Amino acid sequence: METSLASISRNHAHYKRCYDIFEQKSGKIELYNKWASEEFPNIIQNIFDNKTRISCGRSLGIGSGTGSFEAALLKQLQLYFPSIHHIVVEPSETYVSHYKLHSILDDVQYDWQLKTMQQFKHDRDVSCNGRKFDFISAVNSLYYADDLNETLRYLVDQLTPKGCLMIFIRSEKGAGYRIIVNFPELHPAFEGSYLISSQTIVDMLTGMGLKHKVYHLPTSVDFSSAMNESDAEGNALLDLYTGIVDFRQTAPPSLVESVLEFLNKEERPDEEDLNMHVQSHLVLMEWDIIFIEKQ
Ligand SMILES: C[S@@+](CC[C@H](N)C(=O)[O-])C[C@H]1O[C@@H](n2cnc3c(N)ncnc32)[C@H](O)[C@@H]1O
Repeated sequence: METSLASISRNHAHYKRCYDIFEQKSGKIELYNKWASEEFPNIIQNIFDNKTRISCGRSLGIGSGTGSFEAALLKQLQLYFPSIHHIVVEPSETYVSHYKLHSILDDVQYDWQLKTMQQFKHDRDVSCNGRKFDFISAVNSLYYADDLNETLRYLVDQLTPKGCLMIFIRSEKGAGYRIIVNFPELHPAFEGSYLISSQTIVDMLTGMGLKHKVYHLPTSVDFSSAMNESDAEGNALLDLYTGIVDFRQTAPPSLVESVLEFLNKEERPDEEDLNMHVQSHLVLMEWDIIFIEKQ
């Protein structure tokens, strides 16, 4: 189907601007870091406790972004591996520069791979570099996989015995997924696996006979700015959540209106905000975290 709508995932600079605004407005960084220090340690304890503590751990980040969350994860892994060799696979130069400036840890040896996961796999296949990983994370990046089934198989295959793959992905419950799935008019603009939810991944893993555990990370995001057409931050949120560059300006007005109506119905008032009479428009966002342990 022909579309005049442009996918946000093809425009790295615009995507980064919208994602930065989303991170500020949603408290996502604090939420993720809290999860990394409070929940992640309990989960990996069961996985890595029996691993030898003398070896150098090997880890791989797929779509690492600015590395702030990756650093929080690596800090916990350091309790099990005195030194870590960590490969960063990230195609955005801006993100990698930020990572190098702000998210570097001692006793971690970084290997910068300024490329997509597709290029990374290709280059590894060509060089026959078969060294496997104790930990692989793909945090909100599998939307960019070309063939999700094959990507999952590949990542699991790259794990050492008892190694673990951790995937963060939007859940079916959150507005992020509900918007795009409810508006098929957006779909022709999408490429890769942009339309997936955690359920897509769970179904594939089940089909492959791979055991996995799923954890949930819900939060509320204030979308009131998206209701105001002259609010630049609100428009950036709309772009991120529809997956379309300049959604308000480029989508047919009837589609913009329907998406806003949909968001209005998604509202989930927070008790605290009601008590404070704050003018906010809170919408549920939820990520699922899927752990796959190599048997
Ligand atoms: C939603 S951001 C997540 C960043 C980081 N993991 C986090 O949670 O803060 C998605 C990341 O995937 C990267 N990305 C986009 N296409 C990719 C691809 N084909 N392979 C690997 N990473 C990709 C983007 O540059 C971006 O850093």
